[in-house]
Amino acid sequence: MSEQDEPETETTADDPIEKLRAKRREAELGGGESRIESQHEKGKMTARERIDFLVDDDSFTEVDPFVEHRSTNFGMAEKKFPGDAVVTGYGEVDGRKVFLFAHDFTVLGGSVGEVVADKICKVMDKAIENGVPVIGLNDSGGARIQEGVDSLVGFAKIFERNTKASGLIPQISAIMGPCAGGATYSPALTDFTFMVQDTSHMFITGPNVIETVTGEQVSKEELGGAGSHSTKSGVAHFSCPSEEEALENIRRLLSYLPQNNMEDPPRVQPWDDPDRAVPEVTDIVPSAPRKPYDMSNVVGRIVDEESLFEVHGNWARNVITGFARMDGQSVGIVANQPRVSAGTLDIDAAEKGARFVRFCDSFNVPILTFVDVPGFMPGTDQEHNGIIRRGAKLIYAYAEATVPLLSVVVRKAYGGAYIVMSSKFLGSDVNYAWPGSEMAVLGPRGAVNILYRNEIADADDPDARRQELMDDFREEFANPYGPAKRGYLDDVIEPKDTRKRLIDDLDLLKRKREDSPPKDHGNIPL
Ligand code: HXC
Repeated sequence: MSEQDEPETETTADDPIEKLRAKRREAELGGGESRIESQHEKGKMTARERIDFLVDDDSFTEVDPFVEHRSTNFGMAEKKFPGDAVVTGYGEVDGRKVFLFAHDFTVLGGSVGEVVADKICKVMDKAIENGVPVIGLNDSGGARIQEGVDSLVGFAKIFERNTKASGLIPQISAIMGPCAGGATYSPALTDFTFMVQDTSHMFITGPNVIETVTGEQVSKEELGGAGSHSTKSGVAHFSCPSEEEALENIRRLLSYLPQNNMEDPPRVQPWDDPDRAVPEVTDIVPSAPRKPYDMSNVVGRIVDEESLFEVHGNWARNVITGFARMDGQSVGIVANQPRVSAGTLDIDAAEKGARFVRFCDSFNVPILTFVDVPGFMPGTDQEHNGIIRRGAKLIYAYAEATVPLLSVVVRKAYGGAYIVMSSKFLGSDVNYAWPGSEMAVLGPRGAVNILYRNEIADADDPDARRQELMDDFREEFANPYGPAKRGYLDDVIEPKDTRKRLIDDLDLLKRKREDSPPKDHGNIPL
């Protein structure tokens, strides 16, 4: 029964119940009517409206609604608001608990002082103790200037919690307003960051500081809007046209995830036939090895219908990462995308893939890898920016993963990229290839140009000779039967059977347990 439905009882201003209710109403107003109005005029919801939209109806319980700051400098003694600049508590999403904090921009610009940080840390501690995901809805001017170093300490406490929670519980951030300076590092430490187009901005230093220091002129949007962070920097995993869409997508994301690292991801009632043959994938993948096609169409037909949910969909698009379901079970997808840069692996793709693989491994989500990769991206830009050091992250991530790893070579897998993409001896459990696929150290052209340079140059018709040698090479090496003969592939399968085979294997691997010798942590090449 809500407060409004309760029978009228006679109360006076001194009545403790009435006093409580009045205090609660005051807290719920945050910074007051006019600031709420100005929030709405900017196209933004208030902290409480966001929480209400995100969680199941009537499921939110607020914690610490009466906390006030203790600061007195700069006239702060007169600027007190019950609950201060953040709303915290817990609720449910699809009947599963989540802890939440939402910065209240209507109170002192959502700025983070001592007690705001303490409120956030309290729910983070509870989330860690109880193995429940934590969601932060950010809309804040950052460290509260009037509270000086206490504000900075507050951020340090939050960062420490973010790091402690990493790998124990899923952490999700949504940026729904400003997020500047050191404040950006809390979302950066979480697993997934959502941004809202036009109304959210993230930067370490804003346009004014940049112009003062470097003379460069840049708009807030270009510098740190959802567009830039979801396509250029990779800071944002999702860019959403509205707050509502961001919140709906958080609900969807949670549906694929377990509550913590000790649980398996939830299995939903399957709605798609596990034995469904997928003959249509053969028509999508061209047999010519260099012809582009959209790998998401292939993956989309193999996984449960409509279940593919891309993560980082607009950044490093030469690799696809995302969640999907196979017979109702949550799986992680990593796939080369031949439609973008021919599906080569570069620095961004390696980092995107590595981060995703590590998330899945932390949270018991099996990984399906679909391979069609010509190699690593060549070029001085890549070499000088550290493709060796940064590409190694993807190897590390796959090699340390203990969740079930299944891979299918769809068309080609060459050189180092063959090794990286969930190959057998990095620890993959199940390795398949389709019949027309090619696996070798180099592609036929590169290989014969190196092995037969002189012979080709001396030939009467060098192009014809090269083609002949390439055909021989393809016949001899660039096919799946070499690796299959050695057991590097478990089988060569007909494309139409891929869904059924993978679902059978996932079922078999359900009980997979792999122990590693104890260590503090590995030293991933960061
Ligand atoms: C105290 C703040 C504040 C802050 C905003 N306010 N930021 N109060 N500390 N950091 C207050 C404003 O004084 C104002 O109060 C109210 O919030 C709304 O702010 P406006 O400026 O009117 O809103 P808007 O025009 O929308 O601009 C929002 C803004 C701007 C872009 C966030 O306020 C701004 O630039 N703030 C400062 C950002 C900043 O430099 N923060 C420190 C980052 S460094 P009144 O009472 O007038 O309504 C950092 C270090 C963390 O965070 C380090 C961790 C290691």
